[in-house]
Amino acid sequence: MRIAIIGTGFVADYYIKTLPLHPELELLGVFDRNEARKAQFAAHHKITGQYPSLEALLADDRLQLVLNLTDPRSHYEVSRLCLMAGKHVYSEKPIAMEIAQAKELIELAETKNLLIVSAPCSVLGEAAQTFWKALREGFIGKPRLVYAEMDEGMVFKMPFREWSSEAGAPWPYKDEFEIGTTLEHAGYVLTWLPAFFGPAASVFGFATNLFPDKVPGEELDMLSPDFGVAVIRFHSGVIARLTNSLIAPHNHSLKVYGDEGALTCDDTWFYGAPVYTRKSVKIRRKSVQLPWKVHYPAVKKAPKFDYRGVQQMDFARGPAELADSIRENRPCRLSPRYCLHVNELVLAVNNAGENGMAYQMTTTFDLPEPMPWAR
Ligand SMILES: NC(=O)c1ccc[n+]([C@@H]2O[C@H](COP(=O)([O-])OP(=O)(O)OC[C@H]3O[C@@H](n4cnc5c(N)ncnc54)[C@H](O)[C@@H]3O)[C@@H](O)[C@H]2O)c1
Repeated sequence: MRIAIIGTGFVADYYIKTLPLHPELELLGVFDRNEARKAQFAAHHKITGQYPSLEALLADDRLQLVLNLTDPRSHYEVSRLCLMAGKHVYSEKPIAMEIAQAKELIELAETKNLLIVSAPCSVLGEAAQTFWKALREGFIGKPRLVYAEMDEGMVFKMPFREWSSEAGAPWPYKDEFEIGTTLEHAGYVLTWLPAFFGPAASVFGFATNLFPDKVPGEELDMLSPDFGVAVIRFHSGVIARLTNSLIAPHNHSLKVYGDEGALTCDDTWFYGAPVYTRKSVKIRRKSVQLPWKVHYPAVKKAPKFDYRGVQQMDFARGPAELADSIRENRPCRLSPRYCLHVNELVLAVNNAGENGMAYQMTTTFDLPEPMPWAR
C-alpha cells in the first residue's frame, strides 16, 4: 500500500518510528502547509518524497492511502479532499469534531468504495487483545461493570513549552488545551470497550472546566472540559464509568468486574502492559475477591518502540490493518462504522456540559474480529 502523510507535526514522529514494523506500507512522501516543518521533518527522518502542495499530493495516481495527521479541527476538510480524490484515509482522532461531519465522511467513503478509519488503534495492541481474550474465555464470568480512568495530571503546570518531537515540532499546547483532554485521550480506552462489549446504547455525562486559565497571558480560542465523567450503557447490559481529567495524577487503568472475578490493566496506553486477574471466591457466607492478582498470559510480546513518550504504542499498526484488510479483501478490524461509533461516544462525553446530558447513541457497527495471533 503506497501511503503519504499530511501533517508533519508532533505525532508524525510516532508514525515514522513504527512504520518499519510494517513493510507493507510504502511511504511516497509527506506534506505540511507549514513548509519549514515539512522540510525539517523530512530532513530529520531522511524522507526523500516531499509534496509541494496538497493538490500535488492528491493528484499523485500512485498514492492509495493518506495518513491525515493534521490537528483535529483540520481533519474533516483534509479527509474530505482525500476521499474526493479517490484515496483511502487513516485519520488521527477524532474523525471530525461534529458527529454530522463524521457521518458525512463515512458515507462519502462508502459511496466511493473507499475506507476511512481513525486512530487510536490501541485496541489492536497486545494488552487490549490479551484483555479481550480473557473476557472471551469467560475468565471472570459475565462482565458487568467497568471502571476506566483517563487522567493525565496537571499537564498545564508542566514545562510544556519545552516539549518537542524528535524532529523538532513543538508540542501543540494551544491546540491540545483547546481541543481538550476528552477528545484527545478518551478514545484510547473507548476503542477497547465496544470491541469487548458491543455497541453502546446511551451515555450519561458531566463535563466542566476547572482550570480555564491554563496558559496565563494567552487567550484560548475554545474552552474545553478538563474534567468529565460518563456512564456508558452497552446494549449487552455492561455498564462503564469513564473518568477523564487533566487534574488527577496520570492514571490510565482499566478494571472490569464480572460474576466470578476482575480483570485489570494498569496502562491502556502501553501495548506491553500486563493484564491481571483476581478471582472471586466464597468464604463462609461471603463472596470476596482474592487479595492477590494473577498475571493472565499475554497473547504475544509487544515490540519495543524506538521513541520517547508516555504512550508506548505501535501507531502505524492502524494504517497497516487498513492496508491488510484491503489486500485480504476482509472487513477492517477498525472498521469505518466502528471508528464512527467511538467518535460519537467521545463527543457525547466531551459535550455533556455542567448540567449533565443523557445521550442516545445513533450509530452502530459489526463486531470486529480479534487479531489473528490473539484468537
Ligand atoms: N501531540 C500528541 O502527543 C499526540 C499523540 C497522539 C495523537 N495525536 C493526534 O495527532 C493529531 C496531530 O497532532 P499533533 O500533536 O501532531 O499536532 P501538530 O499541530 O503538532 O501537527 C499538526 C500539523 O498539521 C499541519 N496541518 C494542519 N492543517 C493542515 C492542512 N490543511 N494541510 C496541511 N497540513 C496541515 C500543521 O501545520 C501541523 O504541522 C491530532 O489529531 C492529535 O489529536 C497527538
